[in-house]
Amino acid sequence: MSYFIGIDLGTSAIKLLLTDEKGKLLNSVSKEYPLFFPQQGWSEQNPSDWINAVKEGIRELIKGFNSSLILGIGCGGQMHGLVALDENNGVIRPAILWNDGRTEKEVDFFNNVIGKERLSDLTANIAFAGFTAPKLLWMKNNEPENFARIKKIMLPKDYINYYLTGVHSCDYSDASGMLLLDVKNKCWSDEMLDICGICREVMPELFESSDITGTILPHIARELGLPEDVKIVAGAGDNAAAAVGTGTVNNGECNISVGTSGTVFIASDSFGVDKNNALHSFAHAGGKWHLLGCMLSAASCNKWFCEDILSSSDYSSEQADISEDKLGNNRVFFLPYLMGERSPVNDTNARGAFIGLSLDTSRADMTQAVLEGVAFALKSMLEVANGLGIEISRSKLCGGGAKSPLWQKIIANVLGIQIDIPVCEEGPGYGAAMLAMVGCGVYNSVSECAKALTGVKKTISPDPDISRRYEAQYNKFKKIYPSLKELFGELK
Ligand code: XUL
Repeated sequence: MSYFIGIDLGTSAIKLLLTDEKGKLLNSVSKEYPLFFPQQGWSEQNPSDWINAVKEGIRELIKGFNSSLILGIGCGGQMHGLVALDENNGVIRPAILWNDGRTEKEVDFFNNVIGKERLSDLTANIAFAGFTAPKLLWMKNNEPENFARIKKIMLPKDYINYYLTGVHSCDYSDASGMLLLDVKNKCWSDEMLDICGICREVMPELFESSDITGTILPHIARELGLPEDVKIVAGAGDNAAAAVGTGTVNNGECNISVGTSGTVFIASDSFGVDKNNALHSFAHAGGKWHLLGCMLSAASCNKWFCEDILSSSDYSSEQADISEDKLGNNRVFFLPYLMGERSPVNDTNARGAFIGLSLDTSRADMTQAVLEGVAFALKSMLEVANGLGIEISRSKLCGGGAKSPLWQKIIANVLGIQIDIPVCEEGPGYGAAMLAMVGCGVYNSVSECAKALTGVKKTISPDPDISRRYEAQYNKFKKIYPSLKELFGELK
C-alpha cells in the first residue's frame, strides 16, 4: 500500500488530498488565503501565504495516517501568475495573477507591434493580459528596479515545488501559458525571452508533468512530518491537472471547469492552433496537447453576488426559488465579465452588467441570471471550437460551481450537450495525485492511470424544450457585449 498527496493551488484556497494508489480518497484539507485587488482590475497574492497554507495543510492532511506510506506529491495550480525571485531567493513583489488586467499596453505591444502572426509562430498563442510575458514587460516598464533584481521566474505551483525540492522546474502544460514557450517544440523561445529582456538562466528547467523533478528537501520533510524519500513530480497547470483528474485525456474529450475561472478544455492527440487564437493552444499533462478557452470569472460571479451583494453564504437557498419552468424564461441577463474577459473577446476593459431589470425583478431572477450568464459565456467558447470543426456532444464538469445541481442543469441545457459528473469531483488535486502515481511507477502512463482511476457517477442530458428556450436566450445574450463594448472603454 502506498499513499500520494495531490495539491491544487487555487485562487481562493489551496486544496490538498491524500489518496492511496487505487485513487481512494483518504482525506482532504482546504485552506483559504487572501486575494488582493490593489487597483481596479489588478489581482495579486503573496506567495508566502501559499507556502504557509501548504505547511499547515500537509500537517493537517496526514495527521492520523501512516505517513511512511507516502511516496509522492503532485501539484496543480493557477496558471500564468508571475513569481519573481531575487539573488537570495526572496520574492521580489506579490505575485501578479492570471486574472490581473493591468497589462493592456503590453498586450497591445505584443499583438500589434510584434504581431499576432509572429507570436503565434513563436509560441502557438497570442498575448492575453493574464499571460506571464506581458506581466514581465509590465514590470520592466513600471518597476524597473524590481525587474533588474530578477534572478528566477516561476509559476505559482512551481514556487511550491521549489519550496519542497529546491529545484527550479516547470512542466509543459503550465509553461504553455507563459507566452515564452515554443509550445510545438516544447522549448523556451529565445526570441520571446529576448523581447521580454530576460535570459535563459532565469527560466525553470522543463519537464513532462509526471516526471520526478526531485526528492523533498530533508529539513522540509522533517518540518512537515513526511518521509525523506518522498518524490515530487513536475505537476501541471490546474486545467491540465483537472483534465487528468476527470479522465479527459483522449482525443476530442472535453472537460469544463467552473471554478474561480471557467474553462473549456479539449484534449487533442495532435498539436493544432485556433487560427483566430481565441482558444489557447497548450501542451497537455500526458505528453499530448489541448485547446483551452478561459473566462476570467465563473463561480466567482456567483460567490460575489451571493456573498458580497446579497450577504448570504447559503448558495442553495438562494437557488431554491428557481424552478424548472423558469429555465430559459428569464428576462434578466447578466454579463459575467467582472474582471475583464479573456476567451473569446480578449478585452481587459469589459465589466459585468445586469440588463433587463424591472420593478418586479426578484432576488432569485438575478441569481438565476448570474448562473445563466456564466453558462452563456461557456457556450461562446464552445462555439469557437465548433467553428474549428470540433463537435462536442458531451463534457465532464468539475470545479466548485459544478456542485450545484441547478447550475449543472443550466449548463447542460444552455450548451445543449450531455454533462458527465466525475466520480471524484476534486479535478486538479486528484489529477495532481495521479501524476505523482505515474511518476512513482504505479501506472505506466497518464492515460493508463486515468483509465484505471476515473469514472462518471451521473450524466445530465439536456431537455429539448429547455434547450430550445435557451438557444433563443443565448442569441439575446450575444448582443449584450457588442452593445456595451465602447462604453466599457469609456468607463475605465
Ligand atoms: C487558464 C486560466 C485559469 C487559471 C485559474 O488559462 O487562466 O483557468 O489557471 O486557476
